[in-house]
Amino acid sequence: MDHFLPKGGLLHAEEVPLNRLAEEVGTPFYCYSAATITRHARVFRDALAGVADPLLAYAVKANPNLSVIRLLAREGYGADVVSEGEMRRALEAGVPAARIIFSGVGKTAGEMAQALAAGVGQINVESEEELHELSALAAARGATAPVALRVNPDVDARTHAKISTGKSENKFGIPADRIPALWARGTGLPGIRMRGLAVHIGSQIAELGPLEAAFARLGALIADLRAAGHRVESADLGGGLGIPYDPAHPAPVAPDAYGAMVARVTAGWGVRLAFEPGRLIVGNAGVLVTRVVRVKQGATRRFVVLDAGMNDLIRPTLYGVYHDIRAVTPRPGRELATFVGPVCETGDTFAEDRETSPLAAGDLVALMTAGAYGATMASTYNSRPLVPEVLVKGSQWAVVRPRQTYEELLGAERIAPWLEEGE
Ligand code: LLP
Repeated sequence: MDHFLPKGGLLHAEEVPLNRLAEEVGTPFYCYSAATITRHARVFRDALAGVADPLLAYAVKANPNLSVIRLLAREGYGADVVSEGEMRRALEAGVPAARIIFSGVGKTAGEMAQALAAGVGQINVESEEELHELSALAAARGATAPVALRVNPDVDARTHAKISTGKSENKFGIPADRIPALWARGTGLPGIRMRGLAVHIGSQIAELGPLEAAFARLGALIADLRAAGHRVESADLGGGLGIPYDPAHPAPVAPDAYGAMVARVTAGWGVRLAFEPGRLIVGNAGVLVTRVVRVKQGATRRFVVLDAGMNDLIRPTLYGVYHDIRAVTPRPGRELATFVGPVCETGDTFAEDRETSPLAAGDLVALMTAGAYGATMASTYNSRPLVPEVLVKGSQWAVVRPRQTYEELLGAERIAPWLEEGE
């Protein structure tokens, strides 16, 4: 459920009409609904009522805007981060270091040192090589790294291949059969405290089966480690829950069913569980509002050319996925069109032969369910400045990232000295 609903024939974000925001901030822009974010944060927490004291670590990569992270920190959420930049954001937004999980397959020595200095609560180690490097870094600083080993359970998440992370051929995690030996080695390494295991098999997962299989694998490993005399304190079950994008498709598994499965599968594990939800919390809490530049009749199809492009929202072309398109001020009737942006690539297409309310130049449309992996995956391709982000709460709204100016876009670059005028 979200708070982008028509009122008086006009699409609103909570109490704010989207056309008013468009007048104030220009188009395109991302608009987030605070009530929707809060609601999903609570829905997920409530779904895990059967789990004692879970650590809910919001996956910052889904939407790293500082206001979004702060809103979630106020809901008691920690943060799952995968870079120094994300760690800085989480700390800046007020997430206590103890509630930060540092994940990622390519942490640099510099990033691991920063994580140790900040005192993050958990570092998810993805290889034997990384464990040794972390040990040396921690020992040199007189620090102790709280480690979870990320397991690659060799489970197919049955999602898009580009966002599937739990198969043995994927770069992520440590093969399950190597975990017991690596854990034993870790307990003898200076600067390392072996705390737990972690797993994350992919994103936009629609069914429980693959998740349950991965968690069962983790449970079996915990039992093996305990049988070998080790102390296992925590298990991080990652993120990955899918959300509805296409109203014509059956909705992915609901958080409640996920929570019940988790409670059943993990009963008796005797560890503190952590979760890293991203998309589920912010996905349908955001829309990309864009204006129709013109409607163009091509040789074989009708194009609605928008002022947002693939550089602003890359998901449709990168993964071939569906985003609902709604007119901000719908007219009676339906019309078929192909929705494209202004970028000079045929891949700059949001939807082919999509039926919507009839649209004309100057109309506003909202690309729905763009709160996760939207603004954060944007680029300035075609030298198009990054678009603003607006957070709405009831009838209040704030620009939480202003539109990038052309001065900022060009000012970030330097002419090589030997190309300076007169040289
Ligand atoms: N934890 C780890 C270790 C992750 O790699 C991810 C996402 C998450 C948690 C959060 O997963 P979520 O709950 O959001 O599914 N750009 C793609 C999604 C990439 C997901 C990457 N990892 C997209 O637009 O669909």
